[in-house]
Amino acid sequence: MESHQDSLKILFVCLGNICRSPLAEGVFQHRVEERGLEGRFEADSAGTGAWHVGEPPDDRSAQVARRNGIELSGSARQMTPSDLHDFDWVIAMDRSNLDAIRALHARHGGDAELALLRDFDAEPGDVPDPYYGGPGGFDRVFELVSRSIDGLLSALLEGDGGSRGHRAR
Ligand code: 4NP
Repeated sequence: MESHQDSLKILFVCLGNICRSPLAEGVFQHRVEERGLEGRFEADSAGTGAWHVGEPPDDRSAQVARRNGIELSGSARQMTPSDLHDFDWVIAMDRSNLDAIRALHARHGGDAELALLRDFDAEPGDVPDPYYGGPGGFDRVFELVSRSIDGLLSALLEGDGGSRGHRAR
């Protein structure tokens, strides 16, 4: 990730970093570019698990993104304790991911705000894990991610993102 000192750095986290979080990163980046906000935000994604490290996004995520005009890029990496220091926001796709991130934070500290992506959706909840389901699951994931990213970007631009974060300190 290129680093700019004044930009807000956001890390999207799921379990494998091949289905949900690359989609969240791609949708976020796309919305930022659509709105001419490059330079104000930087996004990356990671997984709490290491099973898929080095792999590209899952084809089913890449396809739903492409159908919506978004190209996914990057390869999977596992989240590290330093992410909690390097990012301003660490945003989990589901509560199980958030628990894993909180456990990492309890051991290693860091100033990142922790949140669930759907804290920024009108209907809070998890972005369900689509890995073992059919392709329809990925359309649903796209819908939830897309809606939540719009809410997240609005909250960050209005400066009230912090009131929704589950700060773990
Ligand atoms: P993700 O989906 O967390 O959205 O990337 C998954 C990818 C892989 C596995 C589970 C979920 N897996 O069990 O290998």
